[in-house]
Amino acid sequence: MYTAESLKKGLKTEHFGCKIYAFDTIDSTNNCARALAGCWADEGTVIIAEQQTAGRGRLGRPWLANPNENLTFSIILRPSISTESINLLPLSVCVAIAEAVEKSTGLAVECKWPNDLLVRNKKVAGILLEGSYSQSKVDWIVIGIGLNVNQTVFPADLESKATSLKLMAGRDIDRIALFHRILENLEQSYRAGTRTGFHSILPQWTARTRMIDKKISVMERGTLLSGTVKGVSPDGGLVLQSDGSERTIFAGDVTILAE
Ligand code: BTN
Repeated sequence: MYTAESLKKGLKTEHFGCKIYAFDTIDSTNNCARALAGCWADEGTVIIAEQQTAGRGRLGRPWLANPNENLTFSIILRPSISTESINLLPLSVCVAIAEAVEKSTGLAVECKWPNDLLVRNKKVAGILLEGSYSQSKVDWIVIGIGLNVNQTVFPADLESKATSLKLMAGRDIDRIALFHRILENLEQSYRAGTRTGFHSILPQWTARTRMIDKKISVMERGTLLSGTVKGVSPDGGLVLQSDGSERTIFAGDVTILAE
């Protein structure tokens, strides 16, 4: 098991990870981060756990990860951005993590809208963004990151869809070195985003996805939609074309119908 001290040693960031709360077991690092964010914890505070008993994914799903093999952590942010650009933040987080994983493993990492990272078409990581907003301003955001690092066995129903960096790279991955790279990249891209706007991430995100011009179906608030992906809108929605008209969706579970 790692400790806050071992996770901090050698970390080259200014603020991200300045406070690290490391748990052996916790219900959910996002739950803990939300509670701390509400108590004025500093921006950049990280909550990390070897095991979550109630890890949460998007759309109310559980996030299952074997203990001691993966990276499951949350980071508290207090961006002074409007709620309109909030959907761009997870896209920039995805790109920052993808770059860190590539540097650490040599694997090519793709982005799948909204918040997934894939290697050779299988999911290696997911991001859960939760926040508190007043009027149209952001009070705090918690970014929860679940990354399958050295896990080699997955539940039968996930085997065809999920994988890990170890399975894809064929070797053990140093979790602490990877954690450092991720935090360093995240801090850099977050700083750039808060300075110049997160929209500048769109070309990089788009270059990392194979969704463009693909036919997809998406479950959006109980309704099944299908169409061809035309891109990502300036505010982070997925632009779909169907029956000659375009619509933009902001949440949902996407299935790519034809490769
Ligand atoms: C998804 O793909 O549905 C998002 C998964 C996010 C999982 C991470 S693990 C760390 C943090 N704590 C949680 O309970 N969830 C996120």
